[in-house]
Amino acid sequence: MTERRPLIAGNWKMNCLRADGLALASSLAAKASEKGELGCDVLVCPPATLLSEVAGVTKDSAVAVGGQDCHAAISGAHTGDLAAPMLADIGAQYVLVGHSERRADHGESSTDIRKKATSAHDAGLIAVVCVGETEEERDLGATLSVVNGQVAVSLPDGATAQNTVVAYEPVWAIGTGRTASVQEVAEVHAAIRAELVARFEDGDQFRILYGGSVKPSNAAELLGVEDVDGALVGGASLKVDDFWKIIEACA
Ligand code: 13P
Repeated sequence: MTERRPLIAGNWKMNCLRADGLALASSLAAKASEKGELGCDVLVCPPATLLSEVAGVTKDSAVAVGGQDCHAAISGAHTGDLAAPMLADIGAQYVLVGHSERRADHGESSTDIRKKATSAHDAGLIAVVCVGETEEERDLGATLSVVNGQVAVSLPDGATAQNTVVAYEPVWAIGTGRTASVQEVAEVHAAIRAELVARFEDGDQFRILYGGSVKPSNAAELLGVEDVDGALVGGASLKVDDFWKIIEACA
């Protein structure tokens, strides 16, 4: 079996003013430096206003920084958007694309997300491509077809295990305190893995993260599931102690 180094990623979403965000980033960087060798890669995705400063604070630590979204174009008349080269320029190494909140709030389709992932790759960023079914789709028994469809369309042909991470986040588990069961997670991750292996030469090496109400109390169990190669954490990533416990669950 292939060894995949886990990734624990914090998505701060639209949270944190400057003082709180910088305090969070510096305590995380300090904890990581104090610990030395970590059992996983660590990523934080702050809001755009804090990206540059957080990148500065975490620069010499094991904590990487990522954007929460990027535009598909490299520059131009797109008021309010950020281009992937801008993220790379301030020291980001990753960018989330296709988060369900972007799909829902901004009507982003999997085709849009494939273009964003391509732009991220062209800028030298690792694209964290998010997928996941709604509660209605799960109730209809459509989970695997929805998720597989999103993976098929959202991942560009140029995706590799080096430049792409897949994050499975069931929409009904995001911010609700409800987590998918170990069996549900295992089933979807196995289906995503099968699709990656069928399409990409290094499909067995892509990291597949689980996201949706991950917290210190359930992290070890979820991270122990086959084909779960880390977590994408929302609420619990805003508290350094909780996020740190999730990181330690990887060790
Ligand atoms: P919560 O951990 O708050 O459920 O959010 C998950 C998520 O959407 C991370 O991208």
